[in-house]
Amino acid sequence: MAKLLILLLLALAPCVNAQQTDLIANTEGRKTINLNGQWQIIVDPYESGFYNYRYQPSNDGYFKNAKPKTKSELIEYDFDSSGSLNVPGDWNTQTDQLFFYEGTVWYKRSFDYARKPNTRVFVYFGGANYLADVYLNGEKIGRHEGGFTPFNFEITKLVRDSGNFLVVKVDNKRRRDAVPTLMTDWWNYGGLTRDVKLIETPTTFVNDYFIQLQKGSRKHVTGWVKLAGDKLNQPVTIRIPEAGFSRSFTTDARGIAPIDFSADLKLWSPEDPKLYDVGIEAETDQVRDRIGFRSIETRGTDILLNGRPIFLRGVCIHEEAPIRGGRAYSREDAQTLLGWAKDLGANFVRLAHYPHNEWMIREADRLGIMVWSEIPVYWTIEWENPVTLENARNQLGEMIARDKNRAAVVIWSVANETPLSDARLAFLKNLVSHARSLDPGRLLSAAMERHYINDTTQMIDDPLGEYLDVLGCNEYVGWYDGLPEKADHLEFKSKYQKPLVMSEFGGDALYGNHGDALTRWTEEYQESIYQHQIAMLKKIPFLRGTSPWILTDFRSPRRPLPKIQDYWNRKGLISSRGEKKKAFYVLQAWYRELQQQ
Ligand code: GCU
Repeated sequence: MAKLLILLLLALAPCVNAQQTDLIANTEGRKTINLNGQWQIIVDPYESGFYNYRYQPSNDGYFKNAKPKTKSELIEYDFDSSGSLNVPGDWNTQTDQLFFYEGTVWYKRSFDYARKPNTRVFVYFGGANYLADVYLNGEKIGRHEGGFTPFNFEITKLVRDSGNFLVVKVDNKRRRDAVPTLMTDWWNYGGLTRDVKLIETPTTFVNDYFIQLQKGSRKHVTGWVKLAGDKLNQPVTIRIPEAGFSRSFTTDARGIAPIDFSADLKLWSPEDPKLYDVGIEAETDQVRDRIGFRSIETRGTDILLNGRPIFLRGVCIHEEAPIRGGRAYSREDAQTLLGWAKDLGANFVRLAHYPHNEWMIREADRLGIMVWSEIPVYWTIEWENPVTLENARNQLGEMIARDKNRAAVVIWSVANETPLSDARLAFLKNLVSHARSLDPGRLLSAAMERHYINDTTQMIDDPLGEYLDVLGCNEYVGWYDGLPEKADHLEFKSKYQKPLVMSEFGGDALYGNHGDALTRWTEEYQESIYQHQIAMLKKIPFLRGTSPWILTDFRSPRRPLPKIQDYWNRKGLISSRGEKKKAFYVLQAWYRELQQQ
């Protein structure tokens, strides 16, 4: 009965992904056609392009991109004279009219496409916030929920040589049952926020692959290759020319070939982020990728990279574009943000609180920066709602699917600051086991809460810790919890023999605002927080990493204080204009010290 009920709810659910094909791995190494640029748009707060006046879904909505055929025909919308927005990009920072806008915007892109025989075509979205309904030439091709993970749909049967119109209804309205839910401390940037492209493949193609070192091994590579199409049973060859490696494996009737081999590989590390050209070749298709090989594991309270204990010198980052603000989406944005993290002396970044765009991960791979990647199970999610769980599992699956071959990603995080309850624990345990089933090699964590057991002792005993490899813990001693010097008398205890990453700490300062170290919002106050924090952190015996909150100031609708916040969270070590605050240098000095050790 319960199963029937869940299936019924899922069927009724407004937004589990329909008609979505398996995520195509590595669009970088394939033939693609970029659909970025100016897209025609219609802002539709009442969704009258989707529903009729009886609030029933209309068969004649804006997705038809209709034009009056006669002078008497009544058509009450027109994409081509309704303005445009840049894709990729959020709509909030492209025009003041949409700065606070939460609702539906329709996007339309016309294109011609001469399809070659024996090929298939897919439309790929790097990300669309939050709920995307996708149509081609007036036909619905699918729906995707989740603002920060990629999705693709096959359009082979629908695409025509010329005059194609791709229409996407993007709705960023927040919902109680969604992931994230109603309340977040970041701007709800809406739109087609990441790259959109067409992917052309042979009829049978290399759909996906997972090629990484086996957990704890520095030689043994395991994984799989998955073909899609009609010729599923065939040989596939893995080639790593630089390592003098080449071997063939055979796919089974489902198109899957388990991969298992040993090779002499130079290991990826922050000091030497070695990436290999890897070829995945089937008879009908071949894909190239740049892959690093490293092992990551824990032993007691240690985190071991390639078998050696390591300290994660990190910082948190929101996907806020440096200097210009708005959603970051480009390689240049990634290079700027990760470049600043490198200036800090970081070898690790916590990408909060959702999967960032692929450029961030690929640049971290190239630059040798380890990554904590997280899904937006943030604060008070609807733990008992099966639709919400399915949604969170889906976002987790898509995050892992896209980045599983990136050596830089060492930690998957399933949640941030979620209140204790049995329902919450069951929900998060479900996510943890889902992640382990998809990727047995990486570490799992979450940013958990802690509590005082007496005035000077904080305890980490969140029951979720039992199921994680690395404990994440957020604390704001000196900002939400007392004054900076309070940290001097504090100690941290943990119920678990596991490594701790202090996943958030810090405080706000407006760049250029100066005063004494007890005056809030000044650089001196923030500097003082870091000085006292670092002294406290150094005393925690099981601390194996830190990622203070946060690299740069970022927009938040929860921060209206005039002349100080103006809808920016000012906990950045760098201002929204790229200026380094005093606290930046305090943390830099500590990280340099750690690097010498
Ligand atoms: C929280 C939360 C962040 C938030 C930060 C803050 O811990 O995880 O998303 O921005 O605190 O209050 O600044």
